Amino acid sequence: MTKVRLFKPWVGKEEIFNIKKVFKNEWLGYGPEVYKFEKKFAKFIGTKYAVAVNSGTAALHLALLCNDFDKNKEVLVPSITFSATAASALYCGLKPKFVDIRKEDLTIDFEDIKKKYTKNCIALICVHMGGHPAQMDKIRPWAKKKKLLLIEDSAESCGSIYKGKKLGTWSDISCFSFEEKKIITTGDGGMICLNDKAKYEKIKSLSFHGWNIDPWKRHQIFFRKNNRFSKHWRYEIENLGYKYNMNDLTAAIGLAQLKKINLFNKNRNLILKKYIDGIKDLEYIKPVFPYDLKNGSYWLFSVKTKFRDELINYLKKKKISTAVHFVPLPMNKLYKSFNNNNLKNTKSIWKEIVSLPFFPDLENEKIEQVIKCLRSFDKNLK
Ligand SMILES: Cc1ncc(COP(=O)(O)O)c(C=O)c1O
Repeated sequence: MTKVRLFKPWVGKEEIFNIKKVFKNEWLGYGPEVYKFEKKFAKFIGTKYAVAVNSGTAALHLALLCNDFDKNKEVLVPSITFSATAASALYCGLKPKFVDIRKEDLTIDFEDIKKKYTKNCIALICVHMGGHPAQMDKIRPWAKKKKLLLIEDSAESCGSIYKGKKLGTWSDISCFSFEEKKIITTGDGGMICLNDKAKYEKIKSLSFHGWNIDPWKRHQIFFRKNNRFSKHWRYEIENLGYKYNMNDLTAAIGLAQLKKINLFNKNRNLILKKYIDGIKDLEYIKPVFPYDLKNGSYWLFSVKTKFRDELINYLKKKKISTAVHFVPLPMNKLYKSFNNNNLKNTKSIWKEIVSLPFFPDLENEKIEQVIKCLRSFDKNLK
């Protein structure tokens, strides 16, 4: 029996070629490749600006931080998501306020957003869970009316189109992750996309120690022809910033990955089709998401079953990796003291979900192996 991994990055000669170029330049840190990657990524998503950072978590932190919100205000977040979505609020002295998820697709429930909203809320983070779009067409106009800062946590989707518009362009600020398992990877990394120039400049500064000018820009000024500016070494510390910037080595990998993103998403959708066809007649195992295989950019292949733990154990014996995305945040120690009631769907559905092996170069035999095991598990229950 072959082992089947849950996730795997798809990297190759294009990334190595780009890394070699950076080595040749002898500039590995915050430099020209970062600026190039930001420009290309902003163009790909369709926003005016993008800031490259060293993780999706840093992206979420800065997306909130750049607004100077008063402490103890509340940020609406879905109750089932990766921990960083809610942690970004705590980093800024804000409080996460948990909103229930929709049973149909695990994304934030618009009806519950309206119930949980109070005048103390200043922002709302929507997560495209597993790559499945949150209901941005309903949420966006409502958030605007309430003057909430709307953030898309698009860490699990990259390149998806929802109702004719790219995910990442439905909000005031969108955040992406390039950690090793994501749609595109740089090992670790993230990106913040937005159209607001003032906020872009603030985020740029916050991502590099709060300075008004970064080392690459100063280097360029120093070597500019006819440069009369004598104090190229001077920078102003304007904000309490962080060391969150991306570096040229990482950006070089990102540039190679971005070129292949459409292939990645195409492969992912082909694999999903095989999985969905392979289990469509099963009685006890169903896909979690109503997958859109035409416009989607999915990170997870997840199924729901009342026999989740039994399925996980069964697949373990067959050497097939699984995971649960995610244990609801309010069930975790750190978040227990936050609102934990009226999360009906959250409390029932998380017990039924399991993620299965899924990455863009997952081989046919392994897909067949997973399907075969799901089918025999389902049959044994009858
Ligand atoms: C929904 C979501 N938000 C944020 C993050 C954080 O991204 P990173 O791991 O790059 O910090 C992740 C993934 O890791 C995620 O899945």
